[in-house]
Amino acid sequence: MEKPKTFYITTPIYYPNARPHLGHAYTSTIADVVARCARLRGAKTHFLTGTDEHGAKIVRTAHAEGKEPQAFVDEMAEHFKRLFEELGISYDQFIRTSDQSVHWPGSQALWQKLVQAGDIYKAPYEGLYCVGHEAFLTEKELGADGKCPDHGVAPEHIKEENYFFRLSKYTSDIKRRIETGELVILPEERRNEILALLHSGLADISFSRPRANLSWGIPVPGDADQTMYVWCDALSNYITAIGYGRDEKQFKQFWPADYHVIGKDILRFHAAIWPAMLISAGLALPKCIMVHGLIMSGGRKMSKTLGNVVDPTELIEQYGADAVRYYLCRHVSPFSDGDMTKEGFRDVYNGELANGIGNQVSRVMKMAEEHLGAPVSLTEDDSAFEPAVMEFIERFELNRAMDLIFEHVAKGDLYVQEREPYKKIRSTEPADSAQAKADIEKLVRHVFKLAVHLEPFMPDTAKEIQDAVRNNKKPKNLFPRLAAKRDRN
Ligand code: MSP
Repeated sequence: MEKPKTFYITTPIYYPNARPHLGHAYTSTIADVVARCARLRGAKTHFLTGTDEHGAKIVRTAHAEGKEPQAFVDEMAEHFKRLFEELGISYDQFIRTSDQSVHWPGSQALWQKLVQAGDIYKAPYEGLYCVGHEAFLTEKELGADGKCPDHGVAPEHIKEENYFFRLSKYTSDIKRRIETGELVILPEERRNEILALLHSGLADISFSRPRANLSWGIPVPGDADQTMYVWCDALSNYITAIGYGRDEKQFKQFWPADYHVIGKDILRFHAAIWPAMLISAGLALPKCIMVHGLIMSGGRKMSKTLGNVVDPTELIEQYGADAVRYYLCRHVSPFSDGDMTKEGFRDVYNGELANGIGNQVSRVMKMAEEHLGAPVSLTEDDSAFEPAVMEFIERFELNRAMDLIFEHVAKGDLYVQEREPYKKIRSTEPADSAQAKADIEKLVRHVFKLAVHLEPFMPDTAKEIQDAVRNNKKPKNLFPRLAAKRDRN
């Protein structure tokens, strides 16, 4: 496998209008696994996440809570940071779009590039605005009841002066770049969806809003009466974070991004509007947009507006961060929607983690602690990462990577069953007990190898297992949560 020098991966920037839910945890976790894997491969990795803090919805929510928007987002951004810390998200940078020194200069520089390319013009705008989406919707996108199907609210009818971006000019260029593979869209189904959309053509889009109607945002350069519309403000984070308009050297080092990881609800913005902006500004396109499915709850997209959210912090408190990460990676299919239930979570925890990984590691390390006089001396081979697992991870097929890891676990269980080292070690035949000792040593290496592969997915568990092997000690109960809960009942 070719060893890239740098690796730049991003999550979307999250709306901090409410506390983070499991859907946000999902996007961040899968991006984190791929980022950790890139670091294991030795790439200089930059993993970006952050919050998308401007827009009408933030202002409304802040005011409803009796707060100024800045104070409100300062507080909310902390909830996201805290969740990511609890969840072990190894981001290198957390960008906030209200940050006037990191984000604004690059965002305004990009706007000016689009102006220079002749792609920004002023015109009156009339449309149906959904505050939930922070976007204008077409009649076609509304339900039969005239309401936004995702948010269940009627859009507002708005008429105002806007700057527009000449998106229509770039439709065929973007299409060509996706077709040639210059811009990869994963999975195939999403690629086809966006190609069909491009094929039908795209209209120019509203790119600003009058300051009188929206003051909480980045001022349009050269026109203090207009505020940048939220998508231009937000999408530019991917380049401003790494120095666009601020630190050209760092920008050149990391751009183009290797991956933008997004949910399918924001595909159009990332695979049509963003590439058009980049082409207009003379910049390279990201190499790949990875589009995941949505976590559903009761058959609908999990969202604050619908009031059906699962709080990831609660799950982390109950089961531990690694269990949550594991569930998201193995049991939510990366490319299609999946329903998540707390009961399902509990079964997985018990069956696959406590009885699967936890049981094997403690059995093997118990034998090792009792019967091997010293820690097994590890070789380079014991730390080698299986290319097949890495390939799945790099394609975001995390569930399939996990399946391979569990085949490894199953092999270990079978080995113990067949060789019965726990019996033979007590044999009075020296040949038998020597063989059993060799088998235990082999199993310790096997468990270490398991930890190596678990590392991107379950970093704390991986470390505990590796420490146990290095100290030749049975680890303390790796997945104790449910057992403890049962004791209480
Ligand atoms: N702020 C925009 C993104 C701007 S990026 C330049 C936004 N924010 S969001 O907070 O609504 O969503 C952020 C990410 O979380 C998106 O990738 C979205 O798909 C993901 N999820 C939000 N709800 C989700 C689920 N229920 N399930 C899985 N992911 C979901 O959109």
